[in-house]
Amino acid sequence: MKVVSVVGARPQLVKLAPIAGAFASTEHRHVIVHTGQHYDADLSDVFFTGLGIPQPDVHLGIGSGSHGVQTGHALAALDPVLAAERPDWVLVYGDTNSTLAGALSAVKQHLRVAHLEAGLRSFNRRMPEEHNRVLTDHAADLLLAPTKEAMRHLAAEGLASRSVLVGDVMVDACLAVRDSVLSGGHPPAALPEGIDGTEPYLVATLHRAENTDHPGRLAALVDALAGLPLPVALLAHPRLLARAEEHGVKLDRGALRPGRPLPYASMVAAMLGSVGVITDSGGLQKEAYLLGRPCTTLRPQTEWPETLDGDWNRLVPDPHDLGTATWAAIATRPTPTAGRGEPYGDGRAAHRVVRFLTDAGS
Ligand code: UD1
Repeated sequence: MKVVSVVGARPQLVKLAPIAGAFASTEHRHVIVHTGQHYDADLSDVFFTGLGIPQPDVHLGIGSGSHGVQTGHALAALDPVLAAERPDWVLVYGDTNSTLAGALSAVKQHLRVAHLEAGLRSFNRRMPEEHNRVLTDHAADLLLAPTKEAMRHLAAEGLASRSVLVGDVMVDACLAVRDSVLSGGHPPAALPEGIDGTEPYLVATLHRAENTDHPGRLAALVDALAGLPLPVALLAHPRLLARAEEHGVKLDRGALRPGRPLPYASMVAAMLGSVGVITDSGGLQKEAYLLGRPCTTLRPQTEWPETLDGDWNRLVPDPHDLGTATWAAIATRPTPTAGRGEPYGDGRAAHRVVRFLTDAGS
């Protein structure tokens, strides 16, 4: 069997790592195509080296652009690659513009498409990721769902017959790296200047278009983070830096200690060393949950509602609605005592993915 994985953005590289590892222990041919949606070394190269992923077989170098331009460039560049490879499966990951482009190129060439992380929904149609997920799910032949909730969403959209529950491959990646960090297999996290890890600190990220692209909203969120009573390691995505500069929002003030995005193991170490996480990322909400750190999510909804149980994650769409004291109390709340269970699977999802692809025929 030959499988082409199409990736392009940082969270897809984390999901690719366990999949590439699972394929490496089989006879199957696994071809990696990187669209180049993320091109900064901090968002791409360090993930390949740090997670031991083989270098991409093909790099399309599409770069940034509006949604249409980025998706269109990836689609046009993928067509000849998939035509030449003619794989048994095209595997697409998550919800980025590269995911949608991979699914469209494949389905129009009558190549079978499998969607990893199928069935997640925010029901917020203003998010580019929501369009990408829904369209990819409806184009794909095999829907690899991470949770029971995702299976329910797929069934509600008439897609039950194409859906299987495999668990979440990010658990595979996160738990393996956690164990290696805890056993001293990695250097300490490269925290931003001003945080040395001896005092309690929070880890924060902010990059979603709906939080960064409106000047008033970005300024309000940055103000709320800067006003917290603990130092905040703000691991700044290039989109945040670009929009902050454009809108004249200063990131280096109050509690904020801005720094570069971290490689995966360093990010896991940073979270393990912290007293809590504040984010608008999907992956980080779940990683905080798996690592046992309280998370505060700067969004009105989450695709990972299981993290909300037992107050491990709290949705705060707008900190200013809460008032300074309440916001600070939530963001710095103590580690919850509630048990967490295994809603995202047992850390062996990648092997199940390979098995389902194999069983569905080569
Ligand atoms: C993308 C995904 C999002 C995912 C995120 C993870 C879409 C619609 N969004 O968002 O689901 O959570 O990746 O990081 O696909 N930029 C750089 N260097 C890079 C990459 C981006 O400077 O290597 C800058 C560019 O100015 C670009 C902006 O960041 O315009 C946004 O990048 P883009 O890939 O469009 O979306 P992300 O915000 O990264």
